[in-house]
Amino acid sequence: MSHWIGIISLFPEIFGPFLNAGVLGRGIKKGIIGVDLWNPRDYTDEPRRSVDDKPYGGGPGMVLKAQPLGDAIKAAKSDKGEDCHVIYLSPQGRQLTQNMLHQFLDKERIILVSGRYEGVDERLIESSVDEEISMGDYVLSGGEVPAMAFLDGLSRLVPGVVGDDISVENDSFSNGLLEYPQYTRPTIWDGKPVPDILTTGDHKKIDEWRKTQALGRSFERRPDLFGNKRLTEEEKRLFEKYLEISKQERTDR
Ligand SMILES: C[S@@+](CC[C@H](N)C(=O)[O-])C[C@H]1O[C@@H](n2cnc3c(N)ncnc32)[C@H](O)[C@@H]1O
Repeated sequence: MSHWIGIISLFPEIFGPFLNAGVLGRGIKKGIIGVDLWNPRDYTDEPRRSVDDKPYGGGPGMVLKAQPLGDAIKAAKSDKGEDCHVIYLSPQGRQLTQNMLHQFLDKERIILVSGRYEGVDERLIESSVDEEISMGDYVLSGGEVPAMAFLDGLSRLVPGVVGDDISVENDSFSNGLLEYPQYTRPTIWDGKPVPDILTTGDHKKIDEWRKTQALGRSFERRPDLFGNKRLTEEEKRLFEKYLEISKQERTDR
């Protein structure tokens, strides 16, 4: 197994079908990715198995206690090694990007901690968490969906998980741009034809068209991304072509 992810969650049952489906399910079955789950409720020292309590200082909601989470992390580490990288999924963390996922490939064993309620006792983060990662500037009810997103995004980068490695290399963000538009059969659907070039079989021209499309849509949709991209000489030429075509299209309208 090349990569292992441990998930600490109060709702491990949510992960069942997800771990069996699609490319991730295949990666797990092939033994390329390993996933194990720990429920902090199994580690609470409270007689009623409670894992949360009221916030000190008052205020709404409940806070996840440090002890059961800390002991679940210890259990995961004692199984898999003290050098596991521990990530707390949190709206207050660094926002996840495709580049960061590539960097996480260096870590062979990662533990993802899913919070719930108002979050977790800050002392647990200080003592047991290496970093906090966010899925974006919005708040979800729990860290399980972020853990699934992280696991899915990371595992498709692990060689052998996605059948064709080229498809991962062409994905949006992998080369600093959005991907080109995709089409499949039939050639005409709802009165709309597939762009002619794609049915010519001329792979050089198709490749140029796709690169031009990727440049154009990144420029239109994600100027932030496009602004950070260092264009090669070929890309500069194709982007000029894209600008000319779109200018012509605007005049024709
Ligand atoms: C309702 S949220 C707690 C939010 C917290 N009170 C705050 O305002 O920062 C409960 C849990 O969901 C998870 N969560 C919510 N939004 C998230 C996001 N954008 N990224 C990653 N995890 C998130 C975290 O694990 C968090 O502990």
